[in-house]
Amino acid sequence: MGRTVIAEALKRTDIGAEVLVKGWVRTRRGNKTVSFIALNDGSCIHNIQIVVDNVKFGEEYLKPITTGACIGVSGNLVESPGQGQSVEIHATAIEIYGTADPDTYPLQKKGHTLEFLREIAHLRPRTNTFGAIFRIRHEMAMAIHRFFHEKGFFYFHTPIITASDCEGAGQMFQVTTMNLYDLKKDETGSIDYDRDFFGKQTSLTVSGQLEGELAAMAMGSIYTFGPTFRAENSNTPRHLAEFWMIEPEVAFNEIEENMQLAQDFIQYCVQWALDNCKDDLKFLNDMYDKELIERLNFVVKNDFKRLTYTEGVSILEEAVAKGVKFEYPVGWGTDLQSEHERYLVEQHFKKPVILTDYPKEIKSFYMKQNEDGKTVRAMDVLFPKIGEIIGGSQREEDLTKLQNRADEMGVPTKDIWWYLETRKFGTAPHAGFGLGFERLLLFVTGMSNIRDVIPFPRTPNNAEF
Ligand code: 4AD
Ligand code: MG
Repeated sequence: MGRTVIAEALKRTDIGAEVLVKGWVRTRRGNKTVSFIALNDGSCIHNIQIVVDNVKFGEEYLKPITTGACIGVSGNLVESPGQGQSVEIHATAIEIYGTADPDTYPLQKKGHTLEFLREIAHLRPRTNTFGAIFRIRHEMAMAIHRFFHEKGFFYFHTPIITASDCEGAGQMFQVTTMNLYDLKKDETGSIDYDRDFFGKQTSLTVSGQLEGELAAMAMGSIYTFGPTFRAENSNTPRHLAEFWMIEPEVAFNEIEENMQLAQDFIQYCVQWALDNCKDDLKFLNDMYDKELIERLNFVVKNDFKRLTYTEGVSILEEAVAKGVKFEYPVGWGTDLQSEHERYLVEQHFKKPVILTDYPKEIKSFYMKQNEDGKTVRAMDVLFPKIGEIIGGSQREEDLTKLQNRADEMGVPTKDIWWYLETRKFGTAPHAGFGLGFERLLLFVTGMSNIRDVIPFPRTPNNAEF
């Protein structure tokens, strides 16, 4: 007999039918004559109840079936008298695949803190919370591909190893095969990268945008979806050293269309979660964040508020004048901190916000320069509880302006000659953005620490698992 996954078994109505399920024991309780095993196989948040005749199987045989053990059960589907479950299985045969010593298995019942579970990230997918989160993570990835595929975008793969720093922030992890114990340097004391694997200095990418733009300048609408790396030493609940980013790039789009795409995209993904992750969302809503589902519905139904950085800063300055206290100062020209972003979203507008036209000094070299000479056509999408969820812009399509800005900012363009050539050969207006996948997941799951929405988080001093 083939295995039935528990999500399917629970939907069946053919009472009496024989089934085989396999999974991990969440609990076993009962009395002298009967045992009730709550079995979970990860296919859904619900356990299926296995009813076992202790006399038939024998105390000795059942003894190793404790929390965490892995078993296969054949039996018959029976209408369940218990509340909240449709069917249960009356066991006819039980195979024990693996035991879990109760003295050492760390996941005993409920009530572990999220901090503790981070230390046992190899086992935390077996909890209700992380099962729910990682199923939602999967559903969100599917939603992203569907959204772009339905809109005629092509999924384009950009390299992970690169010799250019897209964001110019110098937060890159170097990739080398050189012997660090015996580094060869030239007369000037510089490291001789000619001898390194790629014959030049390389790093893990901080963004696929530059290569994404090359593709947009040929295929029209593309998106990337891949791992991204930043060596920024920020130990915050919103930063990872390794995260996943989705970067659409669209030829002929200007900033307005870019904003609309960002809104449509997020709303599609959130609606997908509401439609396809009901049980898991309900669980997270009940356990962690009683306003989660309400917040998701709100975001799907309401337009994001659009305003300029300059207008945003005025609002923040007025707030300060009225006595609102921020940890960091705010004024035209400063980069907004997440406390400022959240004030605009949560206190002032009470909805997601798209800020545009930031001072050029605090944004990357590739953004389209405005007529005023001071600002660039940047856009950041700001979300409740998170702050920045998307960063993007219209791109500078004028070769001279782009080259000048790169020079001003000290971006070495010899490494990105190929990027500049798109402006030399058939340049066009275009725009794009990057959505941090884990930031989206923070929003959708209601979790408050980004380490809890990626299976194996990489953060400063942490690369376990
Ligand atoms: O604003 P960022 O740096 O923009 C770019 O990388 C552009 N190249 C995107 C583009 O226009 N194609 O990053 C984009 C998003 C942020 O808004 C945030 O959601 C996420 O990536 N992000 C991080 N997420 C987790 N941990 C980090 N350290 C992150 N840094 C950025
Ligand atoms: Mg940004």
